[in-house]
Amino acid sequence: MEQEEAVRRALEDYYRAGKPPWDTGVTPPELVALVEPPGRALELGCGTGTNAVYLARHGWEVVAVDLIGEAVEQARAKAAASGAAVRLLRGDATRLDELDAPGPYDLFFDLSCYCGIPPHRRDAYAAGLTRRAAPGARLLMFGYGPEAFDDPISGVTADELRARFTGWDLADVTPGTNPVPTFWFTLRRHPEESARDPR
Ligand SMILES: C[S@@+](CC[C@H](N)C(=O)[O-])C[C@H]1O[C@@H](n2cnc3c(N)ncnc32)[C@H](O)[C@@H]1O
Repeated sequence: MEQEEAVRRALEDYYRAGKPPWDTGVTPPELVALVEPPGRALELGCGTGTNAVYLARHGWEVVAVDLIGEAVEQARAKAAASGAAVRLLRGDATRLDELDAPGPYDLFFDLSCYCGIPPHRRDAYAAGLTRRAAPGARLLMFGYGPEAFDDPISGVTADELRARFTGWDLADVTPGTNPVPTFWFTLRRHPEESARDPR
């Protein structure tokens, strides 16, 4: 709990200080490749909303969540400036039941959020997405490998995702070319097990 608070404070400081280092303002080609046909999307850890706005501008119905109020405020301003209809919620991606985001969703997008979530909250993250997944839904996730972090608990691996996301297939793992290990993961919810009674 103490550690979660420390992470939250560090994130708040980044957003209050201005543009955080990860905020490139550029939509990655991996997401661009999935933009057609539009559907319903939930972005986890949306930061200042670049990609939520991108999806909305391409016809997607988008809900985007971030833990940090300042990030959500900046995302709201970005959406308003671009005329995109994005529902932006301040909240915890591991506690989706506390938010008004029932789904079902065809696409979940996570750019460097999950890999920073403490291990004891990750089952709750996976369960929240699983309950909200439309038949055949995809989760497109970018994450840093554990070697990229100084602490022993951050980072994500293909093996971990395979084990944690039951009822999903890890359809693709594409390593990055950075000196630090990074990956694009694509998971697909088994169609026959998808949300029948989404909450
Ligand atoms: C590395 S930043 C990436 C932000 C954004 N995806 C981007 O690429 O600009 C990680 C984001 O995840 C958010 N985050 C971290 N833990 C979260 C959680 N449990 N629930 C929701 N958002 C979270 C942070 O506030 C931060 O905005």
